Amino acid sequence: MPVQRLDAVSGDITTQTLDAIVNAANSSLLGGGGVDGAIHRAAGPELLAACRLLGGCDTGDAKTTPGFALPASWVIHTVGPVWRGGDHGEPELLASCYVRSLEEADRVGARSVAFPAISTGVYGYPIEAAAEIAVVTVRGASTDVEHVRFVCFNEPTTAVYARLLA
Ligand code: AR6
Repeated sequence: MPVQRLDAVSGDITTQTLDAIVNAANSSLLGGGGVDGAIHRAAGPELLAACRLLGGCDTGDAKTTPGFALPASWVIHTVGPVWRGGDHGEPELLASCYVRSLEEADRVGARSVAFPAISTGVYGYPIEAAAEIAVVTVRGASTDVEHVRFVCFNEPTTAVYARLLA
């Protein structure tokens, strides 16, 4: 089925009370800055211990852990591409992050999923292009996930998603 409900909100993804939140991680899955650091702080040290067992993650892939101290039951860790000008497979790899994250949500039975703007921080992906891939890919997915929320860390990002979702 297609996702029934897509919305965009401003806020901190760690406080979202959806079934799963997605982490914009790096391939080590051992933590970092940005949203990754915020998720690890809010979930507590058990998250890092669980991530250590996953053996890393390729760019464009996703792996799942429990949410531990988070309100969300699950954290889906995905690794976005580093922006290198756009002709190094970045669009396909970013789309794959959304596809694989929804597949992981289906695997664990999550019906509502919050995504950050993957790759648009430290990894430098231009927000307009990244948000369009996010929205088009989620809209095109066949999944049991009913609700996808894009959680934006600043108002300009929220405005980009709101326009794409209108
Ligand atoms: N809630 C929602 N969005 C957030 C939050 C938050 N608490 N904090 C930051 N963002 P980034 P990337 C936004 O840099 O570009 C890490 O070190 C942020 O404003 O977190 O995929 C990893 O370990 C931006 O819009 O992730 C990797 O090494 C978006 O989340 C690397 O950064 C993504 O920014 C991944 O880089």
